[in-house]
Amino acid sequence: MAVGLFDSGLGGLTVLDAVEKRLPDLPIVYLGDNAHAPYGVRDADDIYELTRGHVQRLWDEEGCNLVILACNTASAAALRRMQEAGVPKGKRVLGVFVPLIEALTERQWGDNSPPREVALKHAALFATPATVSSRAFQRELAFRAIGVDVEAQACGGVVDAIEEGDLILAEALVRSHVDALKRKMPNPEAAVLGCTHYPLMEHVFQQALGPDVQVFSQPRLVADSLADYLERRPEMVGEGEGTRFLTTGDPRRVSDRATQFLRREIAFTAA
Ligand code: DGL
Repeated sequence: MAVGLFDSGLGGLTVLDAVEKRLPDLPIVYLGDNAHAPYGVRDADDIYELTRGHVQRLWDEEGCNLVILACNTASAAALRRMQEAGVPKGKRVLGVFVPLIEALTERQWGDNSPPREVALKHAALFATPATVSSRAFQRELAFRAIGVDVEAQACGGVVDAIEEGDLILAEALVRSHVDALKRKMPNPEAAVLGCTHYPLMEHVFQQALGPDVQVFSQPRLVADSLADYLERRPEMVGEGEGTRFLTTGDPRRVSDRATQFLRREIAFTAA
């Protein structure tokens, strides 16, 4: 019993890191579907089936009451469908879009008032091909804000390079995706890193975009929003201690990469 954090692979560790800093005593089960990453090049049905199966496992086998999809691609392709299909009594699944969009649109948690004009006018969205084609980000934004022009850049290859631990390739790809975005929108005021793998490359995004662009990174926003949620719904924490790391991939390989990214010893076991 703990809070479940799910990602296609290593990206959700950026959320885990922020959650551990914000809520050091929270018991967590992290599950990475590294065997099937990247999700961002899969179709929506495929992402839905994979995500649903892993969330079910966190609910049933790990006893989690609350599962966070620490993955934008899964949040975009599967969250609404899972919620509409019905969630078992006492269980909950939440995504990572809403805290980010609330921050962009200067809203407090759960402010469901009609969309209104906000200071932000030009936003760049960097995300996986599946997240971009879902248009879920634009849909959620339109519920809250009017007059924001969003230019989306599908960042093919970046997740694969990070999963492979090839940060030189990941950096080159980020730079070329930022160039491509700037050709479409030369002066965004804000950039959204809409994939939980990308904060591992945040400094490269910021450097390529320049100092005038405010880069919104999800992990801290999600951690704050989770802390707020658990204060109102403490029964969703569950019992348990510490953090456990599960992967569908090769535990040794995944542990090595995770240790490299978080700069501390992380030991995954087979899911
Ligand atoms: N971390 C996932 C996300 O936030 C990456 C998806 C993928 O596996 O392509 O979108």
